[in-house]
Amino acid sequence: MGTSRLSGTVNVPGAKNSVLKLMAATLLAPGTSTLTNVPEIEDVTIMAELLRRLGCEVTQAEGVVTITVPDRPDHRADYDLVRKMRASICVLGPLIARCGAADVAVPGGDNIGSRGLDMHVDGLRRMGAQVSNEHGYLLAEASQLNGANVFLDFPSVGATETLVMAAVTAQGVSILENVAREPEIIDICHMLNEMGADIGGIGTSTLTISGVAALNPVSHRVVSDRIVAGTWAVAAAMTGGDITINGVNPIHLDVPLDKLKTAGATIERREDSFRVHMSQRPQAVDIVTLPYPGFPTDLQPQFIAMNAISHGAALVTENLFEARFRFVQELARLGADVRTDGHHALIRGRAELSGAPVEATDIRAGAGLVLAGLVAQGETFVYGAEHIDRGYAGFVSVLTDLGAQISRITD
Ligand code: UD1
Repeated sequence: MGTSRLSGTVNVPGAKNSVLKLMAATLLAPGTSTLTNVPEIEDVTIMAELLRRLGCEVTQAEGVVTITVPDRPDHRADYDLVRKMRASICVLGPLIARCGAADVAVPGGDNIGSRGLDMHVDGLRRMGAQVSNEHGYLLAEASQLNGANVFLDFPSVGATETLVMAAVTAQGVSILENVAREPEIIDICHMLNEMGADIGGIGTSTLTISGVAALNPVSHRVVSDRIVAGTWAVAAAMTGGDITINGVNPIHLDVPLDKLKTAGATIERREDSFRVHMSQRPQAVDIVTLPYPGFPTDLQPQFIAMNAISHGAALVTENLFEARFRFVQELARLGADVRTDGHHALIRGRAELSGAPVEATDIRAGAGLVLAGLVAQGETFVYGAEHIDRGYAGFVSVLTDLGAQISRITD
């Protein structure tokens, strides 16, 4: 890698953080469901394997996944798959709703923090489920789930999804308050309604769900990946580049795009695309990560990488995942001036970074390190590139098409 000004056009595929949950949600209806705009990423392959183990037939080809769900799916999600992908926990809600039981391995703490499951469990208990944690498995049982009022302590994405999927076929009405409002949550709620569910208040903090007896299979297009789009936007800003990012609603990136404007970029927005153009060295920008519509934690490492080569200093506050700053130690290997204290990071921008071997510890950290490597003088080797494959389809080839000097050394 070396300094390269990136320019061109990219198309954004469907969102990782939506498609995995939509695949899980198909378990709620026997028969064949079809998802389109599916990204070709490793996590989709892992989720497909998990659904096969539950008795589904799954095919994947060119952005389309079809899932045929049997009348009686199996209800056990084994540790060997859950450990590969924490998002496997999203089968918990649909399995208990469909099978009356779910045995799901508890995902360990991963590289970005502890990520509890207490809100998933408390909410299911309120709906009448018995839930225990035995031998590393969450064992949930409920011959009949009942509608319930649940107020989440925090608008957790995962807990919102589990409880929505459990509530759609529960008996009676559920009122879920302080839920997450991410575009991916809106996507799953719309898909569930297309399947016959009755979810009101979509896109707000309170969802009112009237349970229905059964759902039907569906054909649904996955919402586009705002985090992938945001990553290319930062790439343009960091490299003094000019990138048009197609197939994504810029409203989903309001706060990050506003930050890039503050950093000095010109942003041209259209209905489902936007262009980021930068003709100067960026200004460092302060960031506070928050649930949507706040600044997404999944773009925090990329913005720290940009701040590392910006004019001035910036304070970044991480409110969601405490361990997400681990990657700054790797960024420091490239010469970045970053100090962390608890959930704050102070970055003093430097005119230059210098290439070095670094290790990607998770998907977004990996993306941030590659962006830093693109502007560093000399060669940067990013180890652990398989993390990036979990969330970005064709990462290296997209960057190469934009003019980056980057190559994949090992599979
Ligand atoms: C999802 C995304 C992840 C994103 C995150 C926040 C997927 C596959 N992953 O993760 O990329 O960074 O949303 O936008 O969609 N928490 C609890 N108890 C719970 C649930 C969560 O304490 O029962 C805490 C977590 O430890 C974390 C915070 O809440 O500190 C946010 O977690 P959550 O919103 O649930 O994120 P995920 O669904 O895990």
